[in-house]
Amino acid sequence: MRPERKTLDRALSRAGVMSRTQAEQAIREGRVRVNGLRERDPQFWVDLTRDDVRLDEQPLERWKLLYFALNKPVGLVTTREDERGRATVYTLLADVKAWVAPVGRLDKDTSGLLLFTNDTDLAERITNPQSKLEKTYECLAAGALEDDTLERLRRGVELDDGPTRPARVRRLEDTPTGTRIELTITEGRNRQVRRMLEAVGSRVLALHRVAIGPIRLGELAQGAHRPLTAREVRALKAE
Ligand code: URA
Repeated sequence: MRPERKTLDRALSRAGVMSRTQAEQAIREGRVRVNGLRERDPQFWVDLTRDDVRLDEQPLERWKLLYFALNKPVGLVTTREDERGRATVYTLLADVKAWVAPVGRLDKDTSGLLLFTNDTDLAERITNPQSKLEKTYECLAAGALEDDTLERLRRGVELDDGPTRPARVRRLEDTPTGTRIELTITEGRNRQVRRMLEAVGSRVLALHRVAIGPIRLGELAQGAHRPLTAREVRALKAE
């Protein structure tokens, strides 16, 4: 077997046990043993093919990688603890006992598909600014959007942090309150869809994410979550 040398904090976070910061703290608190000996240095090198690393007496391989899809309702913030005491998405994951973190985030006023995992490798790949993973949104935009406005959104608009990459935009419905569109972008910048609509003189009235790469929200009820299937995880890793 190829050696798999990593610092202890990284080994714990890569095994999906907890975040790197939490791992550092757990190690300093003496919760980690390497080959039976307590190790308090997060930078201690281990080889996962040879060394027996345990957290709270459990071997690392017992900590399974988990992947969930959540249908986030409007009104919850995507963070573990909110300094302003607002309700967070974790209130919907009370039955998930393992540590999992959101992959990217949705604004408080955005609903729809949010992925959670303890696979920090995959989460990092998906959220990396170089990643071109498609995210698809259904958006109710204020006003009657003309075809050439949709074309501007497709070509890319100028935002204060640079131009947006080309997007796919489809008109779904013209309603009395605005225009419903489906918009697929390959970036995940802060409040990107809201800013794109503002850049063309409209604004988002409602925003709902329906897909991330090969994962679709489908019929998942609002506020509910489900584990991803093995096929979905494979598809996500292949992106
Ligand atoms: N774009 C936004 O403006 N908000 C989100 O929550 C996601 C994408």
